[in-house]
Amino acid sequence: MKNVLIFNLNADRIFFENIVHQTHFEKGELKTHRFPDGEMAVRILTDVKNKSCIVTASLKNPDLHLTALYFLCNALKENGATEIIILAPYLPYMRQDKAFNEGDVITSKYFAQFISAIADKLITIDPHLHRWHSLNDIYSIPAFALSASSTISQWIKDNVKNPILIGPDSESRQWVSNVAAAINCPYAVLEKTRHGDKDVEIHFSDFDACSNCTPVLIDDIISTAQTMIKTTEQLLKSGFTNPVCIGVHALFNNHAYELLLQAGASEIVTCNTVFHLSNRIDISPLIFQKLNEIVVQ
Ligand code: R5P
Repeated sequence: MKNVLIFNLNADRIFFENIVHQTHFEKGELKTHRFPDGEMAVRILTDVKNKSCIVTASLKNPDLHLTALYFLCNALKENGATEIIILAPYLPYMRQDKAFNEGDVITSKYFAQFISAIADKLITIDPHLHRWHSLNDIYSIPAFALSASSTISQWIKDNVKNPILIGPDSESRQWVSNVAAAINCPYAVLEKTRHGDKDVEIHFSDFDACSNCTPVLIDDIISTAQTMIKTTEQLLKSGFTNPVCIGVHALFNNHAYELLLQAGASEIVTCNTVFHLSNRIDISPLIFQKLNEIVVQ
């Protein structure tokens, strides 16, 4: 693909190489450097004139990477790139989608404006769409939200006998119901009240438990893991066997992963949108397909 370059700002190397391998896009070379005072330097080592440039970015801990992303995208445009596509498998700043307290800034909206100002297109996987129904509500560029549901369904089909899917809160209904429909199994969606960053309460209404089913928790993001920990504890109290916990985006702050195992998860499985030892579900074919569809070659 002569007119396409794919850059890796900070994504996991194996994930990036996998995309390159599947797409056959030429790799663009760049170097980043953080000065001792914390400022970023970016150097572009490939001629980008008249090329479509894909920038692969891992946006866990977004504030550490956004200045480099900003510098890179602007410089690519200034150096003659015809279009910039940001490939961010995990899209941050989606959860602040309303003013929860008086005066709260709705950061999802401003983050969308920021990305829309530096790129021409965005590809991401399962962004946290709750009060925003589509990325088009806040992004002014074509923003493609791909869904990992089919790959998650396949993983469950291949690995779990007799599953019952459980969504810990109303937002998770979209993933849980799609996956349940794909593999034709029962599901339940619980209710969650969040009192603070690490303080969540799961309201465990009695649902038609099937005693010989394996519970499979599904959520988009695992961050502190408190949502999954509290749900796991409730399931075990109600006589279920140890659940399999599946998350799309493995943020896992501090010891969240270990704490979830200690709480009783039999297995923790995530998609490789964020690099983590729990990555078992490869979403790169979804990206490959979409890139081939939208990139100007
Ligand atoms: C928010 O509603 C999301 O869908 C997740 O449930 C949430 O981000 C999980 O966070 P934590 O792992 O910190 O409980």
